[in-house]
Amino acid sequence: MRPVRTPPKYYFMRIVITGANGMLARAAIKHCTSGGDDVIAFTRGDLDIAERDSVLGTIGEIRPDAVINCAAFTDVDGAETNAAASYSANSAGVENLAEACRTIDAAFVTVSTDYVFDGAKSGFYTQRDTPKPQGVYAKSKRQGEIGAFSGYPRSIIVRSGWIFGNGGTNFLSVMQGLLAEGKAIKAIHDSYGTPTFADDLAKRLRELAAADLPGVYHVTNTGEGTSYFGFAEKICELGGFDKGLLQPTSHAELERPAPRPVSSKLACLISEKLGFAPMRKWEDALAEFISQQKRGQARLPDLRIL
Ligand SMILES: NC(=O)c1ccc[n+]([C@@H]2O[C@H](COP(=O)([O-])OP(=O)(O)OC[C@H]3O[C@@H](n4cnc5c(N)ncnc54)[C@H](OP(=O)(O)O)[C@@H]3O)[C@@H](O)[C@H]2O)c1
Repeated sequence: MRPVRTPPKYYFMRIVITGANGMLARAAIKHCTSGGDDVIAFTRGDLDIAERDSVLGTIGEIRPDAVINCAAFTDVDGAETNAAASYSANSAGVENLAEACRTIDAAFVTVSTDYVFDGAKSGFYTQRDTPKPQGVYAKSKRQGEIGAFSGYPRSIIVRSGWIFGNGGTNFLSVMQGLLAEGKAIKAIHDSYGTPTFADDLAKRLRELAAADLPGVYHVTNTGEGTSYFGFAEKICELGGFDKGLLQPTSHAELERPAPRPVSSKLACLISEKLGFAPMRKWEDALAEFISQQKRGQARLPDLRIL
């Protein structure tokens, strides 16, 4: 008689993570390492994903089960005047990794953005909506999505937005410093998105790598989404800062170099149907992050609002 075996819930994997100094990569490295995976993490200095030969050579040698690509050129405004850098990381770099994964038959998870949409929709963007990227950064990320699929149909594209977590210099670390000094802060009241805790996204990236089901996923914390102003208000509430220091400003008033979607809230049509647990609400995720910070388990609360 054959023994009855319960399938293991978790398979250890050998995983390459790129962009290791970045905010999301740090969360992914922490999550995968703590789960027992064999993680090989590369900073840009170790592995520039835009360099095809290095990428093919390195991934070919390591032969991971999966590559999780967190590397990207994320200077949205800077991309307007440095399109070459944006396309080399966000398009060519993604294509190089896809090719490397195809060569060794590895799962490939690459992170994309809510900015592939133009923001004209008032509700949540799903996989049924047609991307219409506006700025150079957004176009380069969309090109990366297309390149990944055409080079390696097994690719898993994960769009997310308004990510907060540990690491990097950003809006929130600056904001917290100003709030602590009692200085006023301008926050946009007419741009909307779905805030996402890097730790929650990292966990889902690992789950998607293991599931190895190709496609486009929208991975964000849930809830109704919010404006930057609403997000800043919640940060004040949870962090114990004075909300009176927040001054509403408009998208148009800030006149940033790159166009950005006015609303880029994301919802996923497929994750729960495939059996993935629902993502928690962004307010709950933010509360946990800020409480980790208060307990000294996290650094300054970082929010890389691109
Ligand atoms: N933060 C957000 O709100 C947000 C929203 C939507 C989507 N995303 C996407 O989420 C992913 C992670 O974003 P993040 O916020 O963690 O970004 P991040 O903190 O800026 O990290 C990106 C990392 O990629 C590295 N990198 C840049 N070009 C590279 C190259 N050619 N080769 C190797 N590494 C390279 C950077 O290195 P250097 O520091 O040396 O430049 C940096 O460490 C990206 O795909 C981004 O587009 C982010």
